[in-house]
Amino acid sequence: MKTLGEFVVEKQRDFPHAKGELSALLSAIRLAAKICNREINKAGLGDIVGDAGETNVQGEAQKKLDVYANERFKAALEARGEVCGIASEEEDHFVIFDNELSRDGSYVVLMDPLDGSSNIDVNVSVGTIFSIYRRVSPVGTPATMEDFLQPGCNQVAAGYVVYGSSTMLVYTTGNGVHGFTYDPSIGVFCLSHENMRTPKDGYIYSINEGNYHKFPQGVKQYIKYCQEPDEATKRPYSARYIGSLVSDFHRNLIKGGIYLYPPTAKTPNGKLRLLYECNPLAFMVEQAGGKASDGTQRILDIKPTSLHQRTPFVVGSTNMVEKVEQLLRDFPDAK
Ligand code: AHG
Ligand code: MN
Ligand code: MN
Repeated sequence: MKTLGEFVVEKQRDFPHAKGELSALLSAIRLAAKICNREINKAGLGDIVGDAGETNVQGEAQKKLDVYANERFKAALEARGEVCGIASEEEDHFVIFDNELSRDGSYVVLMDPLDGSSNIDVNVSVGTIFSIYRRVSPVGTPATMEDFLQPGCNQVAAGYVVYGSSTMLVYTTGNGVHGFTYDPSIGVFCLSHENMRTPKDGYIYSINEGNYHKFPQGVKQYIKYCQEPDEATKRPYSARYIGSLVSDFHRNLIKGGIYLYPPTAKTPNGKLRLLYECNPLAFMVEQAGGKASDGTQRILDIKPTSLHQRTPFVVGSTNMVEKVEQLLRDFPDAK
């Protein structure tokens, strides 16, 4: 058995100049994940489910566990000193860690502390997503907006935790994707999925079809394509939609499949946030041999302009994502 801690240290030796900062940072994330896992596991008992009574900058009602997870991850990251600031779905602005130690931190972290939080009250899997960059501002000064608005291709690490039938932490530092399953009896994440690869073709499609009438023509065509019987290409595909991005992504990564959140009339740029939902998952999927697109371009090439910006998102098995891109080209919407 190999633990996450051991694995990270072992991998660090592959980078002769690494100073162990990233390992310390990952261990902060590991600790916060364990604490959140403990609370999520007993949701339903005590006063931890339900709304917190506030809305976030995006006008969404915050759940108590959204707030809790945000505080836990923030505190764990601030305590280590490798991070000079964070941005989060639950914070209007980025947060500068302005103390002696953190000012010298080389990294910034962007996160969705609790993804799929509407599922928490009904005992369905939720997650945490994180994205890590090297700062561009000088070490020793407070973090700046520029540190956070970097294109996804600059990420040095990214990952997620899925609090599901078991809890898993999956991450990449740009050398493959590795998954660890939490053993609660010893409180340790154990290596269970080394070097994860996603199939080039998949047979699962994941989309909120309730929004069908507002989808672009190309996406409607793709849904029709998924449902059309054809033995040679093993269609119809199966529809699976949990409503927690992390969980839908994790299943499709392992089994092969595609997840789509297209633009709709209500959300013309889609619903998902580029910096802390789409970029980290795009980095992961590419590292596993898959693809992530906004329908026309690679997610990781988008130059962000604001912290909470949204983007349409098409992610998963390469051949499936390319099929969607092709149909969007072939069936353009009237402008
Ligand atoms: P969050 O809970 O962080 O706000 O994210 C919710 C997201 C994502 O997890 C999920 O895939 C998507 O919202 C579901 O949206 P719909 O309910 O519109 O399908
Ligand atoms: Mn989310
Ligand atoms: Mn969230």
